[in-house]
Amino acid sequence: MIIGVLGGGTMGSGIVQVAAQNGHNVVLVDLNPTILNKSKEKLAKIMARLIEKGKVTSEEADAIQGRITYSQDVHDFVPCGLVIEAIIEDLKIKKDAFAKIEGLVSRECIMASNTSSLSIASIASSLDCPERCIGIRFFNPAPLMPLVEIVPAVQTSQQTLNTTKELIDGWKKVTVVCKDTPGFIVNRVARPFYGEALRIYEEGVADFATIDWAMTELGGFRMGPFTLMDYIGNDVNYTVTETVFAAFYYDPRYKPSFTQKRHAEAGYWGRKSGRGYYNYAEEVAMPEPNRDEELGRKILNRILVMLMNEAYDALFLNIASKEDIDLAMTKGVNYPKGLFQWAEEIGPDVVLAKLEDLFREYGEDRYRPSPLLRRTVHEMVS
Ligand SMILES: NC(=O)c1ccc[n+]([C@@H]2O[C@H](COP(=O)([O-])OP(=O)(O)OC[C@H]3O[C@@H](n4cnc5c(N)ncnc54)[C@H](O)[C@@H]3O)[C@@H](O)[C@H]2O)c1
Repeated sequence: MIIGVLGGGTMGSGIVQVAAQNGHNVVLVDLNPTILNKSKEKLAKIMARLIEKGKVTSEEADAIQGRITYSQDVHDFVPCGLVIEAIIEDLKIKKDAFAKIEGLVSRECIMASNTSSLSIASIASSLDCPERCIGIRFFNPAPLMPLVEIVPAVQTSQQTLNTTKELIDGWKKVTVVCKDTPGFIVNRVARPFYGEALRIYEEGVADFATIDWAMTELGGFRMGPFTLMDYIGNDVNYTVTETVFAAFYYDPRYKPSFTQKRHAEAGYWGRKSGRGYYNYAEEVAMPEPNRDEELGRKILNRILVMLMNEAYDALFLNIASKEDIDLAMTKGVNYPKGLFQWAEEIGPDVVLAKLEDLFREYGEDRYRPSPLLRRTVHEMVS
């Protein structure tokens, strides 16, 4: 199958590499010739590194690069069996692109979007044949991150879902299937990792370094929430939070934080601007955390039960299966354990009791336990 990729930026370039490494001929189309050149050069550098490390031979690297056609013309998508769109996150622009491409490709061609936040149903509605449309959401960097969220819209046919899943599984990716709802699995379930950490800071319980220390040293997370937000960029992370909040009809569980908004407004975006929650200037030392274990456990447990509650609620609403939610969080964002596995180790009754304490203390809806968590505990004791 020839694979088409629309958009040669960060994600599109990564997806092209994955498809070409898996033996497909690939057509990459971008409006901007400079981007196409950059994408080509970037892949050449990656291949040189892989040769150096002995991961591919120079013949294999040549073959991979030889399978890719770089083009500014969507007409080159005509022979494709799958086109994956990875252009700017703008619904109108995406819909226009889908409608145009549908007029060129065969009736069997699957048309997919790599969107992080837009509705697949809405993108699919731009097509005469919306049952061929599906979400295929890679994570950045696509060649390295194992997870791919496969998102059928209400219009998507079973055949489109089956063919897509089989193909991406064949690319040695870990696929999870999830409902077409805001944030899909990862961006929904991970919200409290940032949101509760910011709230703990705002209450004056601990500073950034101490919260990060609690999550990494005591919790086993690869990065603390503030280090991670600085890495993602506070501007980007804040926008995602605001989008998810609005998309959930302003459910208080997803309420954005003023601390993050002010950091974004101040230009404290994180590593890319030299300053975020931390100051990355060479001469500035990183702040030391308060290594008080009791405080650290309190912070970790509070964030953890909020994450677990979110996972239970996603399962309650059939966003994905329990196994897929655990896979998504371990393979998409490197959590040390799946949240269900972790909750079962701690005891769902302990998780519920902690959430009920928080709910009683604050009287805020953000701490409401998921009905499925209550039901699980109820079934345990009866
Ligand atoms: N960056 C991430 O971490 C990430 C992760 C998962 C999903 N996504 C999603 O992937 C998509 C692309 O994100 P990105 O970070 O690669 O963006 P990017 O800005 O790096 O690349 C977008 C590319 O699309 C091109 N483009 C824009 N309009 C076009 C059009 N009409 N036709 C052809 N090319 C066009 C631009 O020239 C640019 O090269 C977005 O929907 C984003 O939400 C991003």
